[in-house]
Amino acid sequence: MSVFGDPLLSRLASPIEAANDAAESTSRPTPRVFIKSFGCQMNVYDSQRMADLAVGEGYTETQTIADADLVVLNTCHIRERASEKVFSELGKIRDLKERRAAAGLETTLVVAGCVAQAEGQEILRRQPAVDIVVGPQNYHRLPKLLKAALAVDTEFPLEDKFDHLPPSPPEAVRARGVSAFVTVQEGCDKFCSFCVVPYTRGAETSRPVRKILGEIEHLTQAGAREITLIGQNVNAYHGRGEGDRAASLADLLAAAARIPGVLRLRYSTSHPLDMGDDLIRAHAEIEALAPYLHLPVQSGSDRILAAMNRRHRVRDYLDVVARVRRARPDIAFSSDFIVGFPGETDADFEATLALAREVGFASAYAFKYSSRPGTPAAEAEGQIDGATKARRLAALQQLLEAQRQAFNHATVGHRFDVIFDKPGRHAGQLIGRTPYMQSVHSDVEISCMGELTEVEIIGVKPNSLVGRVVPRPSHRLRKLA
Ligand code: 5AD
Ligand code: SF4
Repeated sequence: MSVFGDPLLSRLASPIEAANDAAESTSRPTPRVFIKSFGCQMNVYDSQRMADLAVGEGYTETQTIADADLVVLNTCHIRERASEKVFSELGKIRDLKERRAAAGLETTLVVAGCVAQAEGQEILRRQPAVDIVVGPQNYHRLPKLLKAALAVDTEFPLEDKFDHLPPSPPEAVRARGVSAFVTVQEGCDKFCSFCVVPYTRGAETSRPVRKILGEIEHLTQAGAREITLIGQNVNAYHGRGEGDRAASLADLLAAAARIPGVLRLRYSTSHPLDMGDDLIRAHAEIEALAPYLHLPVQSGSDRILAAMNRRHRVRDYLDVVARVRRARPDIAFSSDFIVGFPGETDADFEATLALAREVGFASAYAFKYSSRPGTPAAEAEGQIDGATKARRLAALQQLLEAQRQAFNHATVGHRFDVIFDKPGRHAGQLIGRTPYMQSVHSDVEISCMGELTEVEIIGVKPNSLVGRVVPRPSHRLRKLA
């Protein structure tokens, strides 16, 4: 499966190569599926589940689009001109589909994800090469849609898609590495005025605890060690637990931490207002919970936060940060920011810089505001010109990058439990992650793959750290201390 960032174009073979590749595939016994995933972790997770579904239907996965009998674009609607980018990509796939057709091969083209949800029928109108448009709640219906071919399915169904999606086969889990995502809730009821999620993903729904824990058990039995609970507003989680009692995200994390094989837990993405006392306490009490929290703030100006309908003030955000820090002093934060929201003045933007300076983020994302048709902010007065947005984005990104570098440098000389999950560039080297999501390269025995390995940070590269494995006896001593 291909994930956002892989240039699709580089995977599109020349017409002749494509036809040759395609002709070759006539002798193949099984049809092939190529899935390209854009955007958030939720989409990566959904793409994996669609891949599992296709495998259940007799497909094998391919990384080469020209080979694929079934192409699925799992789209994201958050970024600027998202729909336009999807249409331009679809144009290229249409050409490929025509070349394959000339070689006597059929290609079924599916558009899934949030652009599918938002654009629906319009996708078929603008790009007739598309066969199926399926919204995020309806992936479990894909096999039926494939049989019917040519359909739009963007309704919010009554049944739970998770009940109808097959579990990932163990070999697929192993192939995906030791870090796995589990969707625990979907949708959002917050209605931030810039955001399409409440419209494309619908109302907030939480999966029952039992099903989530069952999925985590299944993943760990197949080798997963780091589990990230994901949801658009994950800390609003309120599922049904034992005896149908209400369970919060903190309850879920505590239960997940007890599952054998779970070495590290994370959750993403959270809203500051939903950082309840029990969740903050979980950061103090659950050893497996990584001391790292992605907590979007969006702006450092109360006026803009109100216009964004964020329902929290700067003071509330800083208060949450302070409380989590008290519970877990070694916690580090990451965040999302939007610059150039309608009505944002220089003073508002300065307040955003001040907030970033006050918190000090280990890493953070900054975006230029981009209008989303159908959201309240798209209609707001005071839209900001492109040059101002670009200037503010550059200034904020410069600050956030300096903070990220400072954070990385501050880890030198410290020891962390690293979970190694893939081979490095050189023989004998593995790549893993610290609890703070930093990539670490170390010379380390292959047997450390998927284990918590104590590593001392000895160097910093632009996008990763260099680590030295601490010899085991000291590791044991540390545990006894
Ligand atoms: N414009 C710019 N950024 C946006 N985000 C969401 N919607 C928009 C938009 N319309 C950003 C927010 C969110 C992240 C996932 O994407 O910062 O937290
Ligand atoms: Fe969108 Fe997050 Fe706001 Fe929900 S809380 S509306 S997902 S930005």
